[in-house]
Amino acid sequence: MPHDHEAHRHGEAIEGGHSRRYNRLARLLLKSQYRRIAADIAAAAPHGAAVLDIGTGPGLLLRALATTRPDLRLTGIDLAQDMIDHATENLADLRVDLQAADVANLPFDNATFDLIVTTYSSHHWSNPESAAEEIKRVLRPGGRLLDYDFERAPFTTLETALPATSRTKFRAPWSLVMKTIRFEARRPMTEQ
Ligand SMILES: C[S@@+](CC[C@H](N)C(=O)[O-])C[C@H]1O[C@@H](n2cnc3c(N)ncnc32)[C@H](O)[C@@H]1O
Repeated sequence: MPHDHEAHRHGEAIEGGHSRRYNRLARLLLKSQYRRIAADIAAAAPHGAAVLDIGTGPGLLLRALATTRPDLRLTGIDLAQDMIDHATENLADLRVDLQAADVANLPFDNATFDLIVTTYSSHHWSNPESAAEEIKRVLRPGGRLLDYDFERAPFTTLETALPATSRTKFRAPWSLVMKTIRFEARRPMTEQ
């Protein structure tokens, strides 16, 4: 499971044995955490919204979201093909688009998504400046980013591209060991 210490290598995909262990532990321990985050996202997502989960890992958040809100059109990306393989297996019975990709070079057209979400991934991104620009590009004007991550995540960098609307503590079942910040930002309707 992700925790507030140096659990994984930074700026890299989580692959091979690391991804297998992550998949197993997350499936065993984190389902309640993702249900709580999915409920929070569901409250923010317009009906039928196109939602992208960046750094989806084994796809457990997407699974909880698909169950809570079957109207959403869900896409997940991860830098690690191994993680995408686990997500494909974990989401085999659901309609979710999954592919390996880097947040710093997203394979989507401009203004594709109404909502972009990401959990415990942004502190791994090796190029948060490009990530911020790419997230802004693929969000439709007025679209929102919700990033649930540790305090050391690059929230300040994300804010340079997308004005933050809030940054608060997020309470979820594993809050004591996974001290999580909920960062919300919005792409302006018009560029200033
Ligand atoms: C701690 S895991 C979190 C996975 C999942 N979001 C969750 O909450 O269980 C971080 C994930 O971010 C992915 N990642 C790291 N750098 C990335 C990048 N530049 N672009 C996309 N995904 C990345 C890793 O491969 C890994 O699957």
